Amino acid sequence: MTSLSFKRHGDKQNSDFFEEYLQALLIERDRVGLTDMIGQIEALMITVDPGQAIHYIGELCFMTPYHYLVTLESESHWTHVLRINMNSPDLLIREVKNSDTPGIFRSLNEIYPIGANKPNSRYMGEIIRVENMSEVTRLQQEREFRFFSQEDLHHLELPGNLAVSKPSPYTHNIVAYMERPEGHSRVYSLGISSIRNDVQEAYLSAKELQEQFNIEGLLTPIDHLATRVYSQNRETAILEWLSLTSYYYWGSYNIKDQNSSTNVTKSVHFPDEIYSPAKVFTANNTPYFVNHLEQLPSPTETFVRNYGPRLHHLAIGVIDGEYNGVENIDYVVDVIASQGKKFLLDVIGSREEGIKQIFSSASEHSSLIIEYVQRFGDFEGFFTKKNVAQLTHAAGVESELMQMQTKAMET
Ligand SMILES: [Fe+2]
Repeated sequence: MTSLSFKRHGDKQNSDFFEEYLQALLIERDRVGLTDMIGQIEALMITVDPGQAIHYIGELCFMTPYHYLVTLESESHWTHVLRINMNSPDLLIREVKNSDTPGIFRSLNEIYPIGANKPNSRYMGEIIRVENMSEVTRLQQEREFRFFSQEDLHHLELPGNLAVSKPSPYTHNIVAYMERPEGHSRVYSLGISSIRNDVQEAYLSAKELQEQFNIEGLLTPIDHLATRVYSQNRETAILEWLSLTSYYYWGSYNIKDQNSSTNVTKSVHFPDEIYSPAKVFTANNTPYFVNHLEQLPSPTETFVRNYGPRLHHLAIGVIDGEYNGVENIDYVVDVIASQGKKFLLDVIGSREEGIKQIFSSASEHSSLIIEYVQRFGDFEGFFTKKNVAQLTHAAGVESELMQMQTKAMET
């Protein structure tokens, strides 16, 4: 098996540059052994503003299959670890204790008009399992990737057993490598660990609610992560990600209605997303400054201009089946909506089309949207073009409202 042996999907036209370097980079990645040494996504790192972590954990433990495990306390941060099991990625929810604490991740938010409203809230990136962390890091440094030093990691209060890349110029996300021997549990070397009573309480009441409505058994781990980037960075963001990981290029679809494209990459080693989620990149087809000529919708470019390039949503799978006479996704969404959580549109798609999807409103704690996705039978894709157009449009409407609120606050 090679990283280029997978079937290509999609209809989006790529540049000659992309096609040439997609081949060259993946052939070289396979040849030097990086594809074999780099495994699955082990954890996702999210940072939130002070006081938000407990609420966000309550929300996540109700809306997803995650469980609260432990809190790591370092000098100026708490890092809460959420887990489903050792087969799927953990979530590390990091919370700065004092809102004045400066930091590189905070700086990434501050230059964007809406991103600046919640300066400490953003998705940071992925921790990826590797064999031989020092060798993987050495090879990546040879390929001109830059990493934080041990001293930087100490200063940033990130786990000392990771090799952490500098933020990507295209996505602003970091990629960290972690070594974990077969059969060992995940360990994050950071601060003092304890189970915090207040977090445990929020977690237990979320799980009680899930149990009351029987929804936990209907949800599966993270299916995909969708990052939004500037239009001109679409191809470089994909190629950079493929260079840092053992993912392959699944394909790109042009979503003409919304003047954007959806671009999918998947793990070479794990065909089932529950072990390592697909990574999706969304970008406008044209940059903002041609809108006055083309008069095309540009919700994706507008989002990136307002928030900066960043993760837009994480998608949770819903198992194929019915509950109480309706399809599982409809039941799950009804239950979650009954507890006050808003959604941006109705559930869209159908059994006949192979997939049903929906976007929640962006979390007030992390600015991240949760997508629910239910596939029927042997449907393998991540969307239908019609669904993506509707989802992108709905997210754009919410984004415009945020923009108006921000402007109103400024005046
Ligand atoms: Fe999605």
